[in-house]
Amino acid sequence: MLPEPEADALAASAMLLERMRRELKGGGNWIGFARYMELALYAPGLGYYAGASAKLGAPGDFATAPEMGTLFARTLARQVAQLLQPGEAILEFGAGSGALAEALIGELETKHYLILETSAELRTRQEARLGTRAQWIDRLPEHFRGVMLANEVADAMPAHALAWRAHGIMERGVSEIGGKLSWAERPASGELLAAARRIEVPVPYESEIGLVGRAWMKLLAARLERGALLVIDYGFPQREYYHPQRAMGTLMCHYRHRAHGDVFFHPGLQDITAHVDFSALAQAARDGGLEVLGYANQAQFLVNCGITEVLEREDPADAARYAPKAAEAQKLLSPAEMGELFKVLAVGRGAQRPLLGFARGDRSHTL
Ligand SMILES: C[S@@+](CC[C@H](N)C(=O)[O-])C[C@H]1O[C@@H](n2cnc3c(N)ncnc32)[C@H](O)[C@@H]1O
Repeated sequence: MLPEPEADALAASAMLLERMRRELKGGGNWIGFARYMELALYAPGLGYYAGASAKLGAPGDFATAPEMGTLFARTLARQVAQLLQPGEAILEFGAGSGALAEALIGELETKHYLILETSAELRTRQEARLGTRAQWIDRLPEHFRGVMLANEVADAMPAHALAWRAHGIMERGVSEIGGKLSWAERPASGELLAAARRIEVPVPYESEIGLVGRAWMKLLAARLERGALLVIDYGFPQREYYHPQRAMGTLMCHYRHRAHGDVFFHPGLQDITAHVDFSALAQAARDGGLEVLGYANQAQFLVNCGITEVLEREDPADAARYAPKAAEAQKLLSPAEMGELFKVLAVGRGAQRPLLGFARGDRSHTL
């Protein structure tokens, strides 16, 4: 059983439901799942990332790598330093609480740290934390030179939900039935159908396609004049993503540190995510003229970047300081935690190769 939200949170969720009902009415009692996810996460003032509830860290719903301590950021900094040329900027997408930005700015002593954040609420929190050490931008610059970072951002982009059935390929969406939001299917069409047809799965099969993520990647590719983008997230190459055994898809919800699969649980109060299809992102990058610079699991990437040397800077005799760092390293690297499920994809233009983080165990060939 999931914990029951407070009364004010329930009231906010009820307002978001009203907003969804209006949209359902306009669409003949149906909206695609991607639109539902967009509203649930980003509806102004009411969506999960757009509302005022705590999201990240201990009191929130989940903890990301930068939230666990500075080890991740200090190790990632080594890769960023290799890629960054004098005078170039770092651009972080979806900076959450600002933890990664704070640690990277400290480590790299950079004056050019840009943040592009879609959530007004999180941007306010980031501004309070970082002050003048970062600059916030509302849209992607026309031309960018430097390093772009997206940690656990791609999984938060609205995903389209599909069902491959004996009678055809369906888009999964949402209807209100008997006063409750429920899954409902319609024949898929257009770009979504074309993308779904290219994927071979046994029937019946349900999964997601990240059209929004692909479009995001194409736009970045067009704007990145020189440098690289590092996408860090949980996901797989296409062959594993659409594996016959993953016939229920990858949608996952987080509420108060519990992961579950009920996407209709109090919309606006819980996180909803889809795993990342890294093959699709890599293809979108290539279509936009970028090169794939490397792809590895998080553990391999961090070890290549020298996480053990970063850890060695701590004194093991100082148990009070060392023990939490060792625990953090364990979470980041263990295959049972973030080490294997999380991947790092690097794409770019004009970047000097080989990249530090992919010196060993590069799995680009699996994309
Ligand atoms: C799961 S949180 C991760 C936050 C942070 N990167 C971390 O690792 O702790 C997802 C973040 O991505 C932001 N976001 C989602 N889509 C975005 C987009 N297209 N551009 C920029 N930020 C986005 C959300 O508002 C939120 O800050």
